[in-house]
Amino acid sequence: MGLIDDITSLEDVDLAGKRVFMRVDFNVPLTPAGEVADDTRIRKALPSIQHCMKEGARLILASHLGRPKGEPDPKLSMEPVAARLAELLGKPVTLVDEVVGDGAKNRVQALREGEVLLLENLRFHPGEKKNDPQLGKDLAALCDVYVNDAFGTAHRAHASTAGVPMHAAEKAAGFLMLRELQVFAELLESPDHPLVALLGGAKVSDKILVLRSLLDRVDALCIGGAMANTFLLAQDYTVGKSLVESDKVDLAKDIMAGAAARKVALHLPTDVVVADSLEAESGRVVAIADVGAQDVILDVGPRTRQSFADVVLRAKTIFWNGPMGLFERAAFAEGTFALAKAVAQSEAVSVVGGGDSVSAINQAGVAKRIHHISTGGGASLELVQGKILPGVAALGK
Ligand code: 3PG
Repeated sequence: MGLIDDITSLEDVDLAGKRVFMRVDFNVPLTPAGEVADDTRIRKALPSIQHCMKEGARLILASHLGRPKGEPDPKLSMEPVAARLAELLGKPVTLVDEVVGDGAKNRVQALREGEVLLLENLRFHPGEKKNDPQLGKDLAALCDVYVNDAFGTAHRAHASTAGVPMHAAEKAAGFLMLRELQVFAELLESPDHPLVALLGGAKVSDKILVLRSLLDRVDALCIGGAMANTFLLAQDYTVGKSLVESDKVDLAKDIMAGAAARKVALHLPTDVVVADSLEAESGRVVAIADVGAQDVILDVGPRTRQSFADVVLRAKTIFWNGPMGLFERAAFAEGTFALAKAVAQSEAVSVVGGGDSVSAINQAGVAKRIHHISTGGGASLELVQGKILPGVAALGK
């Protein structure tokens, strides 16, 4: 399976007594009180972490959290993450209050076999996002083995994803990383047909390369969310005051022509839920031809939900990224939840990526019925575009 064949699995590394630096993606949402709001990404890294502990490694975990500006920001400390990880492991997790430096070195020296420590937020260091070669070397000097299990961050060429592996004596992919890569390789290289992609979210411009790449692979494409508005405008419908990218209408036309040329069934909303403003408490269902000049489109309508669900139920493989409407608001969440339920009901192999779609799946209570919920939003979209992720390339032998 392409790249994966060129990567050593964590399973195949002798870990006993070794200092293992594991890049994880613990970039989790926090509550306003600063607690971990959703620990999915921490849980998904547990198999690799527990394997290292069981094998007697001296484990150094490292992640970023949020987007601090290259300097310490107390609101983005890894402290709540360390606490949650310790609960999940049932073992203490030492938080080191820096990324590199004598304190970190001393803590690593003192680590015993089977023990775990977590470095402070990697992005507190100005060299992380710049992929500063010195930081890469300094982090590599902390370990004997480098492991990357941070699929969600594999599209970033940062010091901890692209720099450290250049200097590490041994390198390997963790179990979560390997599983994610395998699922996407299957989705892209050998899916069962019909393959259906459901794309939503705010902007066509964010997903233009994804759309282009999908046209060569899918049998049907359902587009919802605000990005559908640009397609509707391209078909000369009025979209009122809705979020729309008027300058992307030609791109939308290109995509529609590309779909027709490849015989890809392109499904757009035929009815929508509109309101007077984003702040409205409730909306009205209208046919797409009846959207008024003052209306804001905030969800797909019942007829569209049904037609998208019909496409989903005929699929053998489904890829979903992006909500169908402003689903954070109960009045405009129905379209996204209806789709989540349809995906869960289908017998197809379903792959869902992107924070919002994953959160919709969780809120709809159907996560168990989904074949693969990806921990990588941006990373999975880059894979779907056919890009090589820097964090994955760096693991190659
Ligand atoms: C993510 O949540 O997509 C990853 O953790 C990467 O975070 P970033 O977009 O801040 O680089």
